[in-house]
Amino acid sequence: MNLYRLALLSSVPALLLACGKAPEQAEETVATEQVAPAEETQQIEAVDNFDFSKDYHSYGNPEDIAVKHLDLDLTVDFDTKSLTGYVDLTVERQQDSANTLVLDTRNIDINKVTVDGQAVDYDLAEADENLGSALSINLPAGSDRVRVEYQTSPDASGVQWLTPAQTAGKQHPFLFTQAQAVHARSFIPLQDSPKVRVTYTATIRTPQELLAVMSASNDPDTERDGVYEFNMPQPIPSYLIALAVGDLEFKPMGERTGVYAEPSLLEASAKEFEDTESMLIETEKRYGKYSWDRYDLLILPPSFPFGGMENPRLSFITPTVISGDKSLVALIAHELAHSWSGNTITNATWRDLWLNEGFTTYLTYRIMEFVYGEEREKMEFVLGLEDLQLDVESLPPKDQRLAIDLRGRNPDDVFSNIPYEKGALFLRELEQNVGRDNFDQFLLGYFNDFAFQSITTDQFLTYLEAELVAKHSAVLSLPRIKQWIFEPGVPEGAPTAGSGAFAVVDHARNNWLRGEVKAKDIDTSKWVFHQWKYFLSNLPEKLTQEQLAELDDAFGLTKSTNNEIASTWLLISINNWYEPAFGRLHEYLVQIGRNKLVRPLYAALSKTPEGKVIGRKAFEEAKPGYHPLTVVANQKYVE
Ligand code: BES
Ligand code: ZN
Repeated sequence: MNLYRLALLSSVPALLLACGKAPEQAEETVATEQVAPAEETQQIEAVDNFDFSKDYHSYGNPEDIAVKHLDLDLTVDFDTKSLTGYVDLTVERQQDSANTLVLDTRNIDINKVTVDGQAVDYDLAEADENLGSALSINLPAGSDRVRVEYQTSPDASGVQWLTPAQTAGKQHPFLFTQAQAVHARSFIPLQDSPKVRVTYTATIRTPQELLAVMSASNDPDTERDGVYEFNMPQPIPSYLIALAVGDLEFKPMGERTGVYAEPSLLEASAKEFEDTESMLIETEKRYGKYSWDRYDLLILPPSFPFGGMENPRLSFITPTVISGDKSLVALIAHELAHSWSGNTITNATWRDLWLNEGFTTYLTYRIMEFVYGEEREKMEFVLGLEDLQLDVESLPPKDQRLAIDLRGRNPDDVFSNIPYEKGALFLRELEQNVGRDNFDQFLLGYFNDFAFQSITTDQFLTYLEAELVAKHSAVLSLPRIKQWIFEPGVPEGAPTAGSGAFAVVDHARNNWLRGEVKAKDIDTSKWVFHQWKYFLSNLPEKLTQEQLAELDDAFGLTKSTNNEIASTWLLISINNWYEPAFGRLHEYLVQIGRNKLVRPLYAALSKTPEGKVIGRKAFEEAKPGYHPLTVVANQKYVE
């Protein structure tokens, strides 16, 4: 059947019903139709003269002179919290007459700019709050190499400096960078756009007892002598340049996979993530050879603001997913999948983020199914759709498009499930329409055809039309595809999710809510993490103190050692003012800096004056240990 017709015929609560909710509940929580009329969409983008190929978040001028390669030489100083040294940029003129090279910087002290040892003129423009300062360098004719000597600021937005007390081992300081989306410019002057790809080498000088690692070749057996050399021979976008320094040790997990962590976390990490090698092998079978040689993980301290970051050859990972039962390893599948979607083929601008995250989320589901089977994948899909549903209910329509207009905004402020789960759902629909094998074939071709390139949504659409729609025109419709990409909301008739394992949970929850069974009498002995998460996140918004205490007594929720469960339970506790959980809440907020886990808690606390007092107290205590991004994201909730 034609997809458009399918969409029109399908009934609205399908998604929620399929998630296993009782019909009466489903009726209440159905999202209102958010799809804007097509004319309105076109108008917004046409009137505003949107140039789809322009990166509105970089001052760099790669169309005139493009940076192609970097050689870094940096000294890590934990006392002054600075990286000091230089970067040699090798450039390629795109226009013969071009003589000004424009780089991005943010909060960086420029000491000197030289070509062949001779100082050259440069200008550092006034800073923009989101974008930093353009550094314009006068490049003499014929020269293609320029050295910028510089020093980073202790508050560089892309670097976090941790004291020994903020690490697991408590003996040594730690440093890590996080460049996505626009923070590489706070520790390297460069053209900080995902359109610009560079190779790089680096010499990193550290205190002798510490180890430096980068998103590049790392030698696990390197001598710890305080001078470390790196090489990234494949061209990568700047947001994938990454460095960490600390008391790190390495343990192999497989032939091509291993883990770096502080000594006390090494064994637990290697055990938790021991399936990484299988994930790599399974992904290669469908989507083509892994392009990056080794795939290692770096386990960071708990202040790492994200779950994971796909720095090539070395994903950076939060320790909050070490749960002891591999329940949160979809994160590893996700960061690994970026090796294909994101790192070899990259979004050209931040408007196109969904090309990275939507494809990666789609691949994550597939990898989880390859390695852990269908039932696990189904549960993760239902939970993913629930997250999406919440965003569709709460975000303004303009932020529900896959391709988002971010002009004048900081990409960090527009982070949501839309590029992730809506993107993945769109691809799942394509898969369902053309069949799994055909779709895998298409993806394999896509990854090969654009390897080591950065592309826009519009380039993708042209490719999709030629390589998939044209070949399967009976089951695919271009207007429907454009609706997915350019309009808000989720088109009606989108794929639905259902899980037998969740039906059991719905049954138990409903019986308990009706007072037919006591919490302690529910047989939860075989419940896995996903069932707990589903149980908790689908409780009614308001519960009585007795109900909360009953759940807590029966299941030890306040004490949960699974950080996702703890976050979900603490949110429920705030929304129902369940004070017995507030001690844990404070500890949790002070200990963990992963934004996805703490931000909903601060947001919920900010809704009442009493809550704000609790939030403010935790924030003040936690702030010195939070990453700059976590501070910025949560500050508004405690003011
Ligand atoms: N690349 C992202 C993290 C990111 C996105 C940083 C945009 C800055 C701007 C990473 O791959 C990611 O998606 N992490 C998620 C993992 C999750 C969806 C499994 C996270 O950190 O929660
Ligand atoms: Zn991602």
